[in-house]
Amino acid sequence: MSAPLLELDGLARRFGARWAVQGLSARLGAGEVVGFLGPNGAGKTTSIKMIAGLLVPTAGRIVLDDIDVAKHPEEAKRRLAYIPDRPYVPERLSARELLGYIAGLYGLDDGVAGERGMHELARFGLKGREDDLLGTYSHGMRQRVLLAAALMRAPRVLLVDEPMVGLDPQGMRLVKRVLREVADGGAVVLMSTHTLDVVEEVCDRVLVMGQGRLVADGTVAELTARLPPTADGGAPTLEDLFILLTGSSDEVSDPGAV
Ligand SMILES: Nc1ncnc2c1ncn2[C@@H]1O[C@H](COP(=O)(O)OP(=O)(O)OP(=O)(O)O)[C@@H](O)[C@H]1O
Ligand SMILES: [Mg+2]
Repeated sequence: MSAPLLELDGLARRFGARWAVQGLSARLGAGEVVGFLGPNGAGKTTSIKMIAGLLVPTAGRIVLDDIDVAKHPEEAKRRLAYIPDRPYVPERLSARELLGYIAGLYGLDDGVAGERGMHELARFGLKGREDDLLGTYSHGMRQRVLLAAALMRAPRVLLVDEPMVGLDPQGMRLVKRVLREVADGGAVVLMSTHTLDVVEEVCDRVLVMGQGRLVADGTVAELTARLPPTADGGAPTLEDLFILLTGSSDEVSDPGAV
C-alpha cells in the first residue's frame, strides 16, 4: 500500500473503568472498502466516533490524509464524512435546504455544491423529492439523503456506521455500488456492519473487533484460509471466522489473534 489515507495507532478509549477500545492500530489506503466487524459492544462505534473527531481518544493517534486529527481537527473533518448508525435529519428542512446548509458549513462554492448535490440526490433515487421536508422522509430515504450530503463534499475518508440497517434490497444494492464507486474514486471507506454477506460482496478487507481489541485484519479469503474445514468438511465462511474469533452468543469469548 502507498502512504495510508487513514492511520490508527494504538487507539484507545475508556468510559469510567471500562475500556471500550484498546490498542487499535491499522493502516487503510485509498481505494479500499474496509468492513468493520465485531459483536455488539465490541467498540466499532466508539472507534468510528474517535476517527470522526466526535470522541477524544484516551490514548493513541489518528492520522487522516497526513493530518493529525488531534492537532488539526477542523482540517481533518473537512476531509472526512461520517454517517452515524442512527441517522438524524433536521425534519423542517427539505433535502435541497439541508445540502445547501452543509455546503455553507464546509465553505463549498454555491454553484458547485448545488450541481453536485442534485447529482447525488439523483444517484440516491431522491430526484423529485428534493423539496419535500425531511420529516416526511422514510428511514431509508433519510439514510440516503445523509449519504448524498456526505458525498457532495467528496470526502477522502467515508465512515459509515451500519448503513444497511433498514434498507430495502434496492437501497442495499445502491449503497453497495456507491461505496465501491467512492473507493474506486480514490477514497477509503470504513463501514461497520453485521451483514456479513454484504461484507463478502463489497469489502476488500475486514477489521474484526472483539471486546475492544482488533482480533483480525485481512481479506476475507486470507482470514478464512487459515481456518480448518468446517465439521461437514466445507470451506469456512466469514460467519465461521466471526463466530470463532468473537465467541458464540451463549459463550464468553476469548478472542485470540488470527
Ligand atoms: N458514552 C458511553 N458511556 C459509557 N460507555 C459507553 C459509551 N459509549 C459506548 N460505551 C461502551 O463501550 C463499549 C463499546 O460500545 P460501541 O458502541 O463502540 O460498540 P459497537 O461495536 O458499536 O456495538 P454495536 O454492534 O452494538 O453497535 C460498550 O461496552 C459500551 O457500553
Ligand atoms: Mg455500534
